[in-house]
Amino acid sequence: MGEPRVAKLNRRDFIRGAIGLGLWGGSSLWLAGCGATPKTASVPGFFPLYLRQIITADAANSRVVQWQLTGETDGQILEYRLKGREEILSAPALNETFTDDGATNYQYTATLTDLTPSSVYEYRVRDGEVFSPWHDLSTPDNGEFSCLIFPDSQSSDYHDWRELAQKAAARHGEASFFVNMGDIVDNGEDKGQWRAWLDAVEGIIDRMPFVPVMGNHETYDENWKVRLPVAYLNYFHAPDNDSEVFARYYYSFDYGAVHFVVLNTQWEETEEFSPGLKEAQIAWLREDVRQSKTPWKIALLHKDVLQYRIHNRPERLEGISDIGEVFMPLFDELNFDIVFTAHLHTYRDRGHIYNFRRDTQGALYILTGVAGNVRYPGLWVDHALDEKVAPQPETDNYLTLTASPEKLTVVCYLPDGSEIDRAEVFRKEVDSLG
Ligand SMILES: [Fe+2]
Ligand SMILES: [Fe+2]
Repeated sequence: MGEPRVAKLNRRDFIRGAIGLGLWGGSSLWLAGCGATPKTASVPGFFPLYLRQIITADAANSRVVQWQLTGETDGQILEYRLKGREEILSAPALNETFTDDGATNYQYTATLTDLTPSSVYEYRVRDGEVFSPWHDLSTPDNGEFSCLIFPDSQSSDYHDWRELAQKAAARHGEASFFVNMGDIVDNGEDKGQWRAWLDAVEGIIDRMPFVPVMGNHETYDENWKVRLPVAYLNYFHAPDNDSEVFARYYYSFDYGAVHFVVLNTQWEETEEFSPGLKEAQIAWLREDVRQSKTPWKIALLHKDVLQYRIHNRPERLEGISDIGEVFMPLFDELNFDIVFTAHLHTYRDRGHIYNFRRDTQGALYILTGVAGNVRYPGLWVDHALDEKVAPQPETDNYLTLTASPEKLTVVCYLPDGSEIDRAEVFRKEVDSLG
């Protein structure tokens, strides 16, 4: 397929853009597309909303790209090419429009399945004769990579989250993808919060894949009752897990030398409308890990594995949480290397734990902190297994994970880029500098 000829904004696109300014709160994504009259131009004339890459099971060969429009249309196409090459390939997009919180989301999803590892591509969305700007897309090899890990970003407004995410992404241009550890938004039904969150990662999520982890707040409706996490499940087309009931609830993917397992800790919340999440997941986890061939195994799950005492609540004892009781023996059995958790809005490096005790043969356990503006100052009493705690009272923080076939390095940073913790895991000879 050759380069399209001159792009024109037709009447439909112009109307869609004008609607977009009102419906979506004037997102800057649409501004450049809203000329006063249909015009002839050699510049892109189409600006899909919330254009985002989502991780796939085999990131070296495939990628999911999703976007929204402000109206329904047929024939959305994703065009892509190796950067610097003329030849353009294309993939059709599925219309996955859904309704939630009283709003219809005109959503499109394309899956690229024939990518070459260790390559730099670029992609754009095409709607008839109109197309978006090009956006970068990279595939990994088996060597070293790094990624960004953000804890709970749920917020009353998303300015702090935006600032943290944008500064971290700018500071760590080498990052290949980014993770959010769950409680992405404060209220999983509130469309305004999802849009604010997606707006905040503009310029990041279009160029590096997103790894979503479901938190309990993704399951809350606007009355703070649990419900099917409709928005989460639709916004993030996560990899298949061979479960019809729990599709996109949990999944795994390979990136470089690491097999990542994204688990779901919300069986208490989902029990009344989708029972069996815990049992389905345990069986899946054993089989999934059995089939993995990478040197490293890393788990990402929202709720923490330890139970903390709370100041002025003497009846609450220190120990292992119900989530830890279920998963920690599995992490021991399956030889996981690192376990990342969240939910408690505090950063804690516990070093290595095996059989519920400090032991270098077990996984490194990192409780990842807080990335939004919901903070619990002074709430938790330090746990006997904590080795390193963030300075109190806590501000936002984020982490980087760097993985080579020989070594894993986790670094925790404050928003200004100062380092507060570093831990390393070596193959064979396990060691933590936390
Ligand atoms: Fe949270
Ligand atoms: Fe949570």
